[in-house]
Amino acid sequence: MKPRIQAIAFDAYGTLFDVHSVIALCNRKFPGQGAELSKLWRSKQLEYTWLRSLMGKYEDFWMVTESALIFACRSLGLACPAETRRELMESYLHLETFPEVKSALGKLSKHKLAILSNGSPRMLAAAVDNSGLKRVFADVISVDEVKIYKSSPRVYALASKHAAVPDNAIAFVSSNFWDIAGAKSFGLWTCWVNRGKLPEDELGIRPDVTVDTLDGLIAVLA
Ligand code: 2OP
Repeated sequence: MKPRIQAIAFDAYGTLFDVHSVIALCNRKFPGQGAELSKLWRSKQLEYTWLRSLMGKYEDFWMVTESALIFACRSLGLACPAETRRELMESYLHLETFPEVKSALGKLSKHKLAILSNGSPRMLAAAVDNSGLKRVFADVISVDEVKIYKSSPRVYALASKHAAVPDNAIAFVSSNFWDIAGAKSFGLWTCWVNRGKLPEDELGIRPDVTVDTLDGLIAVLA
């Protein structure tokens, strides 16, 4: 059963912002290799967050993202001079939103809306600003506050703390199943946005609802 939701916390990368919108620039720099580079860059970025959290060696998401880019280029045998690296990193500050995001957020705005993300405060502020979403969110919450990455329970606890409502009044929305698993395990009500029609991970944890796009969430919360 759906609890009375008062605030909605969204994951940023992969949920609101399309991390693979960097493919076009990657292809300009490394013709024909854009998709592969973007995929490896993203998967290493996430892997490094998990490793750093387990090791207790937090570095902010900008640094983790840059390290992942360096590794991904090296792994694919792509020479990436400092200027190219800078340009690719900058593209993270101008990511495209998924097509339905702006209109869906508008329709959800009777709730208190927030972002809860691994992103560093500077990265998130830039991405939100550059996509014209600044006025939509009451709060943009970064894991930097607790210096550990998702899916640590300490991260998900930030949502209710910032919204000043109980945990069971928060809806957590993410396209990343591992993120949904973390939030659900912590105790939040969760909505998985499964744009890619992916199978659920085998973690013994299921989302409260699954939707195809953010538009599905509007109907669920109506
Ligand atoms: C986030 O925005 C990395 O997608 C993850 O927290």
